[in-house]
Amino acid sequence: MPELQNEQELRRGFLVGAIFGLMGAITAALGLPAAGYLLLPGKARRKEVWIEAADLTNLPMNQPEQIIFNRERRDGWKFVTEKAAALVIRTGDQQVVAFSPVCTHLGCAVSWSTNEKHFVCPCHTSAFSTDGKVLGGPAPRPLDRFDVKIAEGKVLLGEVRESKES
Ligand code: FES
Repeated sequence: MPELQNEQELRRGFLVGAIFGLMGAITAALGLPAAGYLLLPGKARRKEVWIEAADLTNLPMNQPEQIIFNRERRDGWKFVTEKAAALVIRTGDQQVVAFSPVCTHLGCAVSWSTNEKHFVCPCHTSAFSTDGKVLGGPAPRPLDRFDVKIAEGKVLLGEVRESKES
């Protein structure tokens, strides 16, 4: 009789262990992707995207140009293609800087003033130099910059990096 009781306890122990093991496996299968989504920073989840914005040869040296390009933006579960702009300056043979035209004060569209030789915001007269720094007005920080790379004579724009306070 004690042998039968021992066998039953062994079987019960095995079944309890198997149930807990199965529950652990299910928890891991469901919990790991959710934990990764919650804990990984957004950029680690996001794929790096480069947009072909211009031909390098079409950009005059040291002359700011506004270029318009199409970009795909995720809107909830769908992707939307929209027009976007960048203020681009070719500063060398293979060097280009690109600023977001969005004013860092309240978001109006900044443009190049040929007369004043700097970027100006029409809303509250903030002014920005060709390296994006604030020259005057209420803008609290320099213009934000696009990541830029040159490949096969094309100017590729990446993410917009938010500038730090001036
Ligand atoms: S929005 Fe540009 S200065 Fe206010």
